[in-house]
Amino acid sequence: RGDPRLKAISDALSVVPNFPKPGIMFQDITTLVSNHKVFKHTVDIFVDRYRDMGISVVAGVEARGFIFAPPIALAIGAKFIPLRKPGKLPGEVISEAYELEYGNDCLEMHVGAVEQGERALIIDDLVATGGTLSAAIRLLEREGAEVVECACVIGLPEVKGRRLLDGKPLYVLVEPR
Ligand code: PRP
Repeated sequence: RGDPRLKAISDALSVVPNFPKPGIMFQDITTLVSNHKVFKHTVDIFVDRYRDMGISVVAGVEARGFIFAPPIALAIGAKFIPLRKPGKLPGEVISEAYELEYGNDCLEMHVGAVEQGERALIIDDLVATGGTLSAAIRLLEREGAEVVECACVIGLPEVKGRRLLDGKPLYVLVEPR
């Protein structure tokens, strides 16, 4: 954890108070990805961790997981699959609902996107309650994939210190101050 790249990543994030609603401290990754060096550090850390783990599928969570998952998938030689909000995928899908602060949302995955026994990595920008990643894990497992780990750039205090999410390892790079 003494990796100086982690401090650069933390420093490149911006926090926007009261967005999108009063009381929410929004963790903005746009300032991270617009810094080429820091974006590359971020992808490199994940690639170094996952390149020799036999991962054949990297699943990205809409929308901000789509920014980080594809460069990781390309670098480790895995396929990328999108886990999308409802009604966006054109083929046959399976769905998993999850709870939000107010109400519910749902993630969908194409049937046939993974093969039985494939080793999967799930990527998102941020984990707060873990509800979104839990739904992602369920989607992949329903289709027979083995979820090796979930990984995010940011872990909010809700998950601080948690190493497991639904029994799956959780890896986060930085935790907001
Ligand atoms: C944010 C974030 C994660 C999720 C984490 O997405 O990008 O996907 O919330 O929250 P949780 O751990 O409590 O489930 P958001 O719902 O804002 O969707 P978006 O990326 O499509 O804007």
